[in-house]
Amino acid sequence: MLRVSELSLVSVSSVLIFSVMCQLPRGVWSCAPADRTALSSFSNNLGTAIHGWPGAENSSGDCCRWPGVGCRQFGAHDELRVVTLDLAGRGLTGALPSMLARLDRLRVLNLSGNYLHGDLPPALLHMPRLQVLDLSHNNLTGEIGLGEPGADSSLAHLDVSFNGLSRIRAGVFLGLPRLRSFSADSNLLSGSVPGSLSSCSELEYLNMANNSLHGTLAGLNFSRLTMLRALHLDWNRLSGRLPPSLSDCRELRVLNLRRNNLTGEVPPAFRRLQALTFFNIGNNSFTGITRALEALQECRALAVLILTTNFHGEEMPGGAAGIRGFPSLRLLGIANCALRGGMPPWLRASARLGVLDMSWNRLAGEVPPWLGGFASLYRIDLSNNELAGEIPPALAQLRSLNGDAPCEQVSMSRYGVRLYNWHVERGELWYDHYIPPSLDLSGNSLAGAIPPELGELRALNILNLSWNALSGPIPATLAGLSALQTLDLSNNGLAGEIPAALVELTFMSSFDVSHNRLSGRIPAAGQFSTFPCSSFAGNPGLRGKYCDGSGGVVVGEPEHDGTLLAGGSEMFGLPFWIGMIFGLSATMLVNVLVLESTIRLSI
Ligand SMILES: *[C@@H]1O[C@H](CO)[C@@H](O)[C@H](O)[C@H]1NC(C)=O
Ligand SMILES: *[C@@H]1O[C@H](CO)[C@@H](O)[C@H](O)[C@H]1NC(C)=O
Ligand SMILES: *[C@@H]1O[C@H](CO)[C@@H](O)[C@H](O)[C@H]1NC(C)=O
Ligand SMILES: *[C@@H]1O[C@H](CO)[C@@H](O)[C@H](O)[C@H]1NC(C)=O
Ligand SMILES: *[C@@H]1O[C@H](CO)[C@@H](O)[C@H](O)[C@H]1NC(C)=O
Ligand SMILES: *[C@@H]1O[C@H](CO)[C@@H](O)[C@H](O)[C@H]1NC(C)=O
Ligand SMILES: *[C@@H]1O[C@H](CO)[C@@H](O)[C@H](O)[C@H]1NC(C)=O
Ligand SMILES: *[C@@H]1O[C@H](CO)[C@@H](O)[C@H](O)[C@H]1NC(C)=O
Repeated sequence: MLRVSELSLVSVSSVLIFSVMCQLPRGVWSCAPADRTALSSFSNNLGTAIHGWPGAENSSGDCCRWPGVGCRQFGAHDELRVVTLDLAGRGLTGALPSMLARLDRLRVLNLSGNYLHGDLPPALLHMPRLQVLDLSHNNLTGEIGLGEPGADSSLAHLDVSFNGLSRIRAGVFLGLPRLRSFSADSNLLSGSVPGSLSSCSELEYLNMANNSLHGTLAGLNFSRLTMLRALHLDWNRLSGRLPPSLSDCRELRVLNLRRNNLTGEVPPAFRRLQALTFFNIGNNSFTGITRALEALQECRALAVLILTTNFHGEEMPGGAAGIRGFPSLRLLGIANCALRGGMPPWLRASARLGVLDMSWNRLAGEVPPWLGGFASLYRIDLSNNELAGEIPPALAQLRSLNGDAPCEQVSMSRYGVRLYNWHVERGELWYDHYIPPSLDLSGNSLAGAIPPELGELRALNILNLSWNALSGPIPATLAGLSALQTLDLSNNGLAGEIPAALVELTFMSSFDVSHNRLSGRIPAAGQFSTFPCSSFAGNPGLRGKYCDGSGGVVVGEPEHDGTLLAGGSEMFGLPFWIGMIFGLSATMLVNVLVLESTIRLSI
């Protein structure tokens, strides 16, 4: 998820554990009257009662026993003070009252996942001992404002993500010198990223993704953020250049700037980011792909590199460019850049690659046979390029796909990100657990026959070879692709029959051989009874039980219900037609689901 922070969990949990350990036997002491008053007035101002707390007319009793309240004894006084208040996900409604700030021993306040609305009282950010404040997933609006000047806060972990906050005051971070983790993603923040962030010298995690932030990053001095490990500013409207001072963040592991309007080149100084493992600048307006690759190849820990939708129309640097490559890469996305040139030879150095997406460029030349030697590669998308020649049979040697090696998923959640399909803007389609094994060479100029060896790629979920110039028969060996869900061979010059053995592919939910030169009978068993007739259209020589090669439903074959459609006698009354309509809608629904589940991932 966007706001996952592994970084401050240690500190958060140590505070919690410490607080719990220090709780004393109940009934010996009672909570401080001042704390009880603050808690009562907080609860009385809410729109809903807090389950297990006494009502407004009864605020006596030991508030340390109220659900969600944690206390600790201080000094020699017989007095317990409230140190934690955890009312996350309790369905609380109403405004967030500033009187909570009177709990001057409070260290942890978690009101996440409620329906609190209205302003975020600045006083909460400046409570003398508060270290953890989680107000995420509420309905707060207005601004993240300033507290009283000079009131230094102890806040280390501040999470206001998934609210409706619209502004952030420029100087707000000057009063938060101890901040280690700040999450404000998925609000409605506009304006620029406050330069005062540079004063949070202990900051490790910053997430302001999915807002409407604009302006440049030039006002931030990243040289002062030496502890920064993760920076998420994706899905905003930031413009201008990448600040070279970012290269001083030597601890930086995750940099996500996807979907902004950033321009210029990746600064050569970025080669100093030796801890960098995840780098996504997809969907910006960067230029200079050669310079970007030159700098980033020096980041020896880089495991995920996404440059998709930038560098429009540039030349993919080839062998002469002197790029050595990326030995640690697990995922590489350079899609939708309209790049000229061919498949880059430096890719050969990335032998640990699991996912490769170079779709939607203008790469010419051949599919390199050495890709078959990549032991971990399980998702290849080279679709919509200008690749020619034959499909190399060596691809059958891909160990993660042919079962010789386990298919080890590239996990996105470990970087605290989701992986979006770049051409689906709605954001629903994302992967954080499972990226399906697939081979997509569609939309090129590949010729020759489909190598029968491809039938060895037993782990494949998706095989798309459509929109090429392939000829010859459909190899019967494809029946060995036992995990296959989607097979698209449409719009080629394939001839001969559809191998009857394909009915063995019991997981196949989407099948398309339309617009080829196939002939003979369409198999009728197994999944084949569920495919729409459009799957077979444009093959005048095809005949079948349900469909023919024109894409039409077969009428006139005596053994099939289709004749009854044409007959329309009074034998088939209302129940028949209701059943018919129900059946058709069910089929359509299944098709819609199938389509949705097979929309391709591109990075
Ligand atoms: C007030 O609460 C206390 C303990 O929470 C309880 O013992 C007492 O009976 C309550 N009084 C009233 C009037 O509800
Ligand atoms: C607040 O509570 C929610 C729900 O229990 C939890 O997921 C979240 O991690 C908590 N926040 C902090 C900072 O511990
Ligand atoms: C959040 O606030 C908005 C605008 O004030 C309102 O339309 C919406 O219903 C609120 N949502 C909840 C869950 O309270
Ligand atoms: C982006 O923020 C909006 C609210 O502003 C939220 O509804 C949406 O789910 C967020 N998107 C993601 C991907 O988190
Ligand atoms: C940025 O911060 C560094 C380290 O504190 C300092 O040396 C440098 O002068 C600052 N740069 C600017 C432009 O303020
Ligand atoms: C991106 O910036 C350019 C100028 O650098 C501007 O013309 C363009 O409208 C911006 N695009 C968006 C989507 O903001
Ligand atoms: C890229 O981002 C712009 C907004 O900056 C958006 O309109 C466009 O659809 C995005 N393109 C892709 C391919 O994601
Ligand atoms: C196969 O690739 C073509 C061209 O890239 C695309 O239009 C089609 O939707 C893909 N087929 C499936 C089933 O995803």
